[in-house]
Amino acid sequence: MTDRTIGYIVGSISSTSINRKLAKALERLAPEGTTLVEIPIKDLPFYSVDHDGAFPQVAVDFKQAIADVDGVIIVTPEYSRSIPGVLKNALDWAARPYGQGSFDGKPTAVIGTSGSGIGTAAAQQHLKAVLSHFNAPTLGQPEGYVQSTPGLFSEDGEVSNDETAGFLVGYLEAFNALVDRYAKVSASL
Ligand SMILES: Cc1cc2nc3c(=O)[nH]c(=O)nc-3n(C[C@H](O)[C@H](O)[C@H](O)COP(=O)(O)O)c2cc1C
Repeated sequence: MTDRTIGYIVGSISSTSINRKLAKALERLAPEGTTLVEIPIKDLPFYSVDHDGAFPQVAVDFKQAIADVDGVIIVTPEYSRSIPGVLKNALDWAARPYGQGSFDGKPTAVIGTSGSGIGTAAAQQHLKAVLSHFNAPTLGQPEGYVQSTPGLFSEDGEVSNDETAGFLVGYLEAFNALVDRYAKVSASL
């Protein structure tokens, strides 16, 4: 069996984030041989081209963390029908310096939860457009729209609904298949 390390980015810095709980659930449900590790974004300053000559250590570490994993899952809420500013800021750091995009060829998946019935669909479409521009292969199916209800996720990622837990396991397996496909392609080059 192939061992994989998958990074995840939480697009919310809220101390009560339901998307962080969803990320914890993914961590808990990861198939054998797959380890999920967080790639934190909350300490990144605002990106500016002024930094391109000398990235701050926190941004260097952020880009290295993406380089070190086999794939990245972005777990994000929707803000104002798009992605939260903190996440866009992190993606801009990942995109630069010019020609050194961290997501070039990196398998990615997006998922998110909201109390709304169409939870995070608009944000995920915007995010997929950004990832496509980065030349990141992105999981198309299953789509990761998870409607939160009170008590669905515990703080440390227990899932109270079996159907949701089963969906998340299937989602992780589908992403592993994408990661493995790209690993094989790069090995054959
Ligand atoms: C500024 C702001 C904008 C929001 N816009 C949306 C939205 O467009 N669509 C949506 O489903 N929820 C929206 N919400 C509600 C969030 O889904 C909800 O606050 C959720 O708990 C945020 O995720 P988090 O708990 O992981 O931070 C918004 C919340 C905030 C604070």
